[in-house]
Amino acid sequence: MSALLEVRDLTVRLRLDSEDREVITGTTLEIAAGEAMGLVGESGSGKSMTAKAIARLLPGGAQVSGAVTFDGVDVLALRGAELRRHRARVAVVFQDPRAHINPVRRIEDFMTESLRVLNDVPRTEGRRRAAAALEEVGIDDPSKRLRQFPHELSGGMLQRVMIATALLSEPQLLLADECTTALDVTTQTEVMAILDDLRRDRGLAMLFITHDLELAGAVCDRTSVMYAGQVVEIRAANRLHADPLHPYSAALVRARPDISATAPRLYAIPGRPVSAFEAPGGCRFAPRCPHAQDSCRDQEQHLTDLDAGRVRCSRAGHLRGHLLEDGAHA
Ligand SMILES: Nc1ncnc2c1ncn2[C@@H]1O[C@H](COP(=O)(O)OP(=O)(O)OP(=O)(O)O)[C@@H](O)[C@H]1O
Ligand SMILES: [Mg+2]
Repeated sequence: MSALLEVRDLTVRLRLDSEDREVITGTTLEIAAGEAMGLVGESGSGKSMTAKAIARLLPGGAQVSGAVTFDGVDVLALRGAELRRHRARVAVVFQDPRAHINPVRRIEDFMTESLRVLNDVPRTEGRRRAAAALEEVGIDDPSKRLRQFPHELSGGMLQRVMIATALLSEPQLLLADECTTALDVTTQTEVMAILDDLRRDRGLAMLFITHDLELAGAVCDRTSVMYAGQVVEIRAANRLHADPLHPYSAALVRARPDISATAPRLYAIPGRPVSAFEAPGGCRFAPRCPHAQDSCRDQEQHLTDLDAGRVRCSRAGHLRGHLLEDGAHA
């Protein structure tokens, strides 16, 4: 099966304070049509930058190398009308809806703008489609909501508006960047259930970015784990939980709070997460890894196939099956 989205060796450098900083190094992942892929990792690991590169929403001046192919099209080469078409086929829903919606415009204007401007859809038809999309995400009385302003809607309702708007352009891939993180737990569950239903009904592929390994496991077929700008493991979501291959993935699994556990204290990954531009040579996780040897620090690590997944750790075959054992991270 050929992938809908293929990201190969994607490297992104951004200019900050007149200094070039690498924020993603050689990211590789692929998503099949209709597949849900989770992307997890600590803050600064490059998850949002990966999504922005796929949607071509990187900040101006970004230097990008590698390849992003969507439905056979070279995304990094797109310009003008083709780029606008790409952005309709790949929809993005971000963490904070209020930061992405104009507070002084009505919901209807926000939702229908691109339909009217890019597709010449008449206003009444736009309104009809927007109302139908709101109904699809479980919003009652859509015609009333369309007349309201963003401040009149709760955070959860506004996030549903964002999802409905993203779906109006009938995308094939949804990039959901921490889209439920800012919501309370009950609303988060509701929004997640809606997203999951819609995705399955429409056969939509999804890149689901989250800090929450558990949530990624619940809604995704596979999960990619990122560390310091690199993908370090790609696995079936249930395998990642039960039998992680990379010591960093294992540390994330162990760091989940477990209310049924009797452990006297929560496990925390030692050291602090680093971004790509701060990462050491050799294995980037080595300074925090209880299994690191000199060879790990000396050698660049590459993604290799293992157990129907991929892992960036030359010791993975040797460590396999022992990473979650008590004392493995002592
Ligand atoms: N506009 C920018 N200019 C320069 N560097 C940036 C910019 N935005 C983010 N970065 C840097 O890029 C790196 C990756 O950031 P990114 O936002 O992709 O991380 P993330 O994995 O999404 O983290 P989080 O979980 O906190 O959202 C970080 O080191 C960050 O400081
Ligand atoms: Mg982010």
